[in-house]
Formats: sequence, C-alpha cells, structure tokens
Amino acid sequence: LQTTSDNSFIKKLKTSGRSLVVFYGSQTGTGEEFAGRLAKEGVRYRLKGMVADPEECDMEELVNLKTIQNSLAVFCLATYGEGDPTDNAMEFYEWLQNGDADLSGLNYAVFGLGNKTYEHYNEVAIYVDKRLEELGATRVYELGLGDDDANIEDDFITWKDKFWPVVCEHFGIESTGEDISIRQYRLQEFAEDTPDRIYTGEMARLHSLKNQRPPYDAKNPFLSKIKVNRELHKPASDRSCMHIEFDIEGSKMRYDSGDHLAVYPINNSELVEKIGKLCGKNLDTIFTLINTDEESSKKHPFPCPCSYRTAFTHYLDITMNPRTHVLKELSEYCSDPAEKEKLRLMAGTSPEGKALYHQWINHDNRNIVHILEDLPSCKPALDHLCELLPRLQPRYYSISSSPKLYPSTVHITAVKVEYMTPTNRQNKGVATTWLADKTPKPDDYPTVPIFIRKSQFRLPTKPQTPIIMIGPGTGLAPFRGFVQERNFNREEDKPVGETILYFGCRKRGEDFIYEEELVGYEEKGAVKLHLAFSRDQAQKVYVTHLLEKESEEIWRVVGENNGHLYICGDAKNMAADVRNIILKILQEKGEMTEQKAQEYLKKMETQKRLSADVWS
Ligand code: FAD
Ligand code: 2AM
Repeated sequence: LQTTSDNSFIKKLKTSGRSLVVFYGSQTGTGEEFAGRLAKEGVRYRLKGMVADPEECDMEELVNLKTIQNSLAVFCLATYGEGDPTDNAMEFYEWLQNGDADLSGLNYAVFGLGNKTYEHYNEVAIYVDKRLEELGATRVYELGLGDDDANIEDDFITWKDKFWPVVCEHFGIESTGEDISIRQYRLQEFAEDTPDRIYTGEMARLHSLKNQRPPYDAKNPFLSKIKVNRELHKPASDRSCMHIEFDIEGSKMRYDSGDHLAVYPINNSELVEKIGKLCGKNLDTIFTLINTDEESSKKHPFPCPCSYRTAFTHYLDITMNPRTHVLKELSEYCSDPAEKEKLRLMAGTSPEGKALYHQWINHDNRNIVHILEDLPSCKPALDHLCELLPRLQPRYYSISSSPKLYPSTVHITAVKVEYMTPTNRQNKGVATTWLADKTPKPDDYPTVPIFIRKSQFRLPTKPQTPIIMIGPGTGLAPFRGFVQERNFNREEDKPVGETILYFGCRKRGEDFIYEEELVGYEEKGAVKLHLAFSRDQAQKVYVTHLLEKESEEIWRVVGENNGHLYICGDAKNMAADVRNIILKILQEKGEMTEQKAQEYLKKMETQKRLSADVWS
C-alpha cells in the first residue's frame, strides 16, 4: 500500500473536521452512490462524513482512526464474479486477508452489494465484516446485505434507517433532526463566454475519441467501425438477435476467446429531448458541476464542462428506475402538494411508502422521463438532476469469435431488448436498440466506442482436454468462439479432445442462431451438438433435460477424462438448474454423496475445470 500524504484519509478527515469515512468497493457506481448518501446524511447526526475510494487511500491508517473522536468507518462493498471484490477494493481486501493489523478502537459497519442469482452471494462484505472484528475492531451495527436481484434500494434504506439510531446511541449523540438537502456540486453555467475545452462524450481525456491514442481501456475506449451487423433470427421470429463485427485493426487491442467486449452506448435522443422540454431548459447550455468538497479526488460527477444534451446523452442513466433518494430530492420541485407528497411517501421507509415505490416505480417500470411526465408539476433544476442520476454504464458482451480466425475483428451476439411497460410505454434497451440501427454501408461504417475486458472464461490450455459447453440462447456466444478455435487447432493437425455443445432455443425455425455454421462444424466432426428446442413440441425441452439423458457421456468426459465444463447465459434459472443436474450426475455416476459432489464441483472451480459466464 502506498503512503503519501495525498493518500492519508485521516489527514483529510482532520483538516476538514470530519469523523465519518465511508469507503466503497464499486464497479458500476452503486456502491459509490450508497457511500455518498451515507456520508452526506452524517451531518444530521453531527458526524460530518467523507466518501473514500480504498484504492486512493492508505488503508493501513485504519489502525489510527481512533485518534479522531467519535470516528466511524463504513464500508459499502460489492461482490463480483466468483466472490471477488471490485478492482478498487482488491488491495484492501488482500491486506485484510494477509495482514494482522491491530484494529482495536476502530468503529465500523459494513453494507454489502450482491446478487442472489449468483453463487458467492455478498461474500466480500460478509468476509470484511467478520475479519474486521477478528482484528479487534468494534462492529457498531450489524452487517447489511443488499440483493440486486430483488430490491437493493429497499435493502439499503431499511438497513440505513436502523443504522443511524444505533450509531447515535453508540456515540451518545442526538440527531439534529435536520433533513436538509445538501448539494454535493456547485453549478456554473456559461452564457456567452463558453470555455474552449468542452467535453462531447469522452470518458476522460478531451477529444480522446477524435485523437485516438492507444492503449485503449475503459477510460480511453477505441472508436471501432462496425463492419457487419446482421440478423441471426429467422423471419418467423418476432424477436431480433444481432451478429455484429467490430473492427479492431490498428488498435493494438488483442483478445482471447471468452473475453468480453464493452460498448459505450448513448441514450435515445427522443428521451433526452423530452427531459429538456419537461424541465423547460435549453439543452445546448454549457455547464460544469464542481464538487463543493475540496478534499474529494472527484472534482466533477462526469467530464465537465459539457452541454446538458451531452450529459444526458453520454454520461447519465435516464432509463433505470430511480432510487428513493432521487425521488426525495425531486419532491422538492413539485408545485402540486399531492405530487410532492406522493414522492415523499415513496422516498420514505414506511410500509405504505415502500409498497407504493415498489408498485409505481419498480412494477410499473417508470424511469425519470416517465416520472416527470406523470407528475407534471415536478420541474427539477436540470443540473440537480445531473447530480442525482447515476452514470450511464458500458454494456458487456461475451465475444463470439476466435482471434485465431478473426484477429482483426471482434464479434458479438446480442438480443435486442424491447418491451411494453404496464403503463403502456415502449421501453427500449439502451445499447441494443442503439446498435440495431448501426448498419454499415459500403465505405460508410458506423463507429462505436469499445474496449476489451479480459475474463477468466478460458479454453483448456491443452487442446486434447475434452470440453462440454452449455449455452442456451445468447449463452451460445462464447462457445461459437471456442468451437472456431478448436476447429482451427484440428485443421493444424493438433490433437483436439471431444468438443460437446448443448444449445437450446425456442424453435428450430425461429431462433436457432448460427445454425449453418454449427451444423457445418458438426459435419466436419469438429463439434458434437445436443439441441433442445423448447417450443417445437407440446412439452418443453431444455438443455437441462438433455443433460439428464446424457449422464453417461458427462461422467465419462468430466469424471473420467478430466474434461472442462462451461456454462454460459441466463444466470437466473438456467445456470443453477444446470449445476444441480451436474451434481446429480456426479452422485449417480461417480457414486458420491451429495457433500462429496459439492466438494468435487468446488474443486473443479478452483482448477478452472468448471467456469461460468452468466448474466441476468
Ligand atoms: P438496458 O437498457 O440495459 O435494459 C435492460 C434492462 O431492462 C434489464 O436489465 C431489465 O431490467 C429490463 N428489462 C428487459 N426486458 C424486460 C422485460 N421484458 N420486462 C421488464 N423489464 C425488462 N447480452 C447479450 O445479448 N449477449 C451477450 O453475449 C451478453 N453477454 C454478457 C456478458 C456479461 C458478462 C454481462 C454482464 C452481460 C451480458 N449481456 C449479454 C447482457 C448485456 O450486457 C446487456 O445487459 C443487454 O444487451 C441489455 O442492454 P441494453 O442497454 O440494450 O438494455
Ligand atoms: P422457453 O423460453 O421456451 O421457456 C433460450 O432462452 C432457451 O432456454 C429457450 O428455449 C428457453 O425456453 C430455454 N430455457 C428457459 N428456462 C430454462 C432453464 N431453466 N434451463 C434451461 N433452459 C431454459
């Protein structure tokens, strides 16, 4: 861990008269947002707070936090992948695991951000909470666990509501009762004197999308040309699945089969224009938001100065269901008392309030535009909205090509998201509907900012190792790359082990994607296909049903020949169902007890013989 005075959070706390520090482990910003909300609310309880990124702090200083009176460290930590911390919390996590610092006198509380759909639910927060206690720290309030599959906002505010009274009790402080809204950022608008440096959608460096310079990554995406964008579903299908090829020639970016492609989409312009109209603001206005906390390393919420149109197009998420703190701030802008009360109620933690939030926001699937439309007296200041809404996130796609065949293009396989909401509005997936219109013409290629994210989803190092791949729907994506790569090796006369693929879709005549290519590989003997068409007959047939039938083959490949097993696609049901079937096969064919079978799967995971690439 580095120690420079810049990394001293204790110094920052002391010089600014604060005693509460809220650390976050965040990948998509939710953990950071929660941390910000806690730090901000501290004022109400005479605990002036500060948000801190563990990556930018000398975390060993936790030992000395007790030198500040009534000090408290809160950790909002997300769990990813196989129970991993986020990148920015990795070093801190390892320090906890490997170190033996004496943390006596440190007051702390932990809130975790996880998703029950995945295994390793909230493991990072659970571990940190336990470990801090082991090292002698004092748990001021019990661990809170947020489940993003259900309603993480609800989990958070419920936890937070009980957390504060306990904190007050612990330190013997009384709430000031003040429920004042404090802005984190100060607005500066430019009327005539527009600045020279105006951002137009860059992620960091000004003009980085015009003056492209490698290396390319999340902060500096590569502007890639779309070379191919074709429909994979057959005419009989009423849905759409796109095969898109991104050019990476000259980018110096490399990829492996199994990696992810990240795409920076932009919001639908109609929605953006609506926000301007509903708030009565000229979207061409150039503005900047400046953090009022001078100690913060984050000077602006997104690259500023820019126009409001740029902010709402490139930087802000305007399509998700807003969280309760947004509603609370919005309520201040309602001139109609009934509308104001409705928002206040939904922002609160009363049972009626929660039920209304669940119904009116989550179930009815309202985004910020829908809310402003349905509460016409609500006219928020546009810059305040810019401060409140979360950042628009890149979308990830499992790369569906092999670099052995396609070194200069990256392919993805993406289903277009489009659905009606209960209020009869058509919602369109941000990235997929935007990509759908990007069709290349001769010498006229649409461009998209991308970067490649390395994954752990890898073919065996030795091609002889047999593999079983299970990927219904778009879960097929990475396996197209795997099959291409194994066949490439075969054609180079390398010994290649069995390559077995389970694919499922609704109907052979509708959504059997890459049919020709897969059947071609099967005819060459490069792959063995097991196909489940769920809606081609009265009874549903899923890949899981086929797995049950093929238990002999599965045991032979996995149990007897040390093969690798891969699962890709829907995290919600499919992945867990497949896991359970494999467990059953291990018990039956491998003559294991249930516990032994569980241990066997765990071992396969650590040996990288079992890998999952799943999303919900
Ligand atoms: P968004 O604007 O993000 O909207 C999607 C959201 O809308 C959903 O999260 C859900 O909340 C809501 N929603 C969707 N349908 C409905 C409905 N019927 N009713 C109510 N609400 C609904 N996707 C692929 O297609 N192919 C891939 O290979 C692929 N690989 C992935 C790999 C990883 C590691 C991850 C994390 C995700 C992957 N995804 C993949 C998903 C992808 O990243 C996007 O989430 C997806 O394309 C939707 O993005 P969007 O911006 O179009 O939709
Ligand atoms: P269904 O939509 O007809 O129920 C790709 O989405 C395919 O996976 C579809 O054929 C879908 O069937 C099927 N599917 C749905 N749930 C599944 C599950 N739990 N396990 C395996 N396949 C599933």
